[in-house]
Amino acid sequence: MPSVFIKTYGCQMNERDSEAVAAQFVAKGYSLASSEKGADVILLNTCSVRDQAEQKAIGKMQNLAAEVRRTDDDVVLGFLGCMAQSRGQELIAKTGVDLVVGTQKFHRTADYVDDLIAARRESIVDIAEEQGSEAKIREHIDLTGVTGGGANARQLVSGFVSIMQGCNQYCTFCIVPYTRGQERSRSIEDIVAECRGLAAAGYKEITLLGQIVTSYGKREIGTCDGKSAFVQLLDAVHEIEGLQRVRFTSPHPKGYGDDLAEAYARLPKLCESAHIPVQSGSDRVLKLMHRGYTRERFLGIIQKLRAVKPGIGLTTDIIVGFPGETDEDFEQTMSLAREVEFDNAYIFKYSPRKDTPAATMENQVPIELREERHARLLAQVNEIADKRYAAFLNQKVQVLVEGPSRRNAARLQGRTRCNKIVVFEGADRHIGQLMDLKIERVGSFTLYGDPAILNL
Ligand code: 5AD
Repeated sequence: MPSVFIKTYGCQMNERDSEAVAAQFVAKGYSLASSEKGADVILLNTCSVRDQAEQKAIGKMQNLAAEVRRTDDDVVLGFLGCMAQSRGQELIAKTGVDLVVGTQKFHRTADYVDDLIAARRESIVDIAEEQGSEAKIREHIDLTGVTGGGANARQLVSGFVSIMQGCNQYCTFCIVPYTRGQERSRSIEDIVAECRGLAAAGYKEITLLGQIVTSYGKREIGTCDGKSAFVQLLDAVHEIEGLQRVRFTSPHPKGYGDDLAEAYARLPKLCESAHIPVQSGSDRVLKLMHRGYTRERFLGIIQKLRAVKPGIGLTTDIIVGFPGETDEDFEQTMSLAREVEFDNAYIFKYSPRKDTPAATMENQVPIELREERHARLLAQVNEIADKRYAAFLNQKVQVLVEGPSRRNAARLQGRTRCNKIVVFEGADRHIGQLMDLKIERVGSFTLYGDPAILNL
């Protein structure tokens, strides 16, 4: 049977979509290639959130096409996901791919590749909307019988579950509502059944995924006994036997009601960590961005979470150089970052996106200024993060052991409840276990631990 290589750009939702697509191929008997070399099918699952991400994927595909087509005309090349959705047919002319599959059609990918291999069709573009597509990202690769440590075992520890698709927030900078469509949520029963399956297969941790998870089920399920649909879902997933940890990403600040803050106190499996995109520290810019909250409200959420869980790990996304951002606005962002002291922040230079309102706003910030602000904010964020990581030295932490360290496969890596990676020396039998470690050394965004030292 042919082999498939899937390369993923962008967010965790994309990673999860790729995994579900890979599962379709495995179910059909295809093998998964670990690199593009020699693969019979090469698919790029793309990201559109910034222009750079699009250019990277287009460049990669152009190189691939030039290379593989020289030696093997039968290799199937395809684009999946967000950029496939927003650019569609034009990608065929631009890069010579055979297949373009949009964000509501991932579940058709393997069938389309079958058709292309059998030469039933010459090229396929499917970027149509499809009702119910949010419930189609549910397959996981069946690794039963192929475990035994190493990379396979890693996948059996921590699983991702897509709970919804789309976004209705329409932030003025963001292309996602156009590439992912309107918000659509799966049912609680359906999600719980998928999580149960993962727990039965040996997974210990689940991360619930969506563009804005705090908007989960707003329309379909609604609030009940003061609990938002998302908190009802957390309650239900929390019940599943065998699961040790529950996480989610990404929430929206305006979805952080008291019910969610209170869930951290009430649900012991819910890990004390949150990635809460703030985007800017200036009320004026937040308004222009159509974010739906103020700086004060955001700070209030952080305060509320730290009151419930003082050690909570907090990360964020920030955009610098949004159109009209003045020096004063930027200083507001700098001061917010100092005030909150995030464990990490992903900082992005504003990138104008097709069909978004911000792309045609006046006062676009020159690229040099965007770069300067990026560098200043990054330096400050890193300084604070270093300080926060350093505070773990000599502390005892509990990690869930995920598998070999990404940087040094001779070591293992685990994750603390507050989402810090800890590298340590261990054995394969530790994979999937909760372990106490003493932090012996602190690196850049990595902690190094020792399981042998128990007297703290
Ligand atoms: N330019 C720069 N960054 C962006 N993001 C989203 N759209 C843009 C854009 N047009 C960032 C936001 C978001 C993260 C995933 O990407 O910070 O939270």
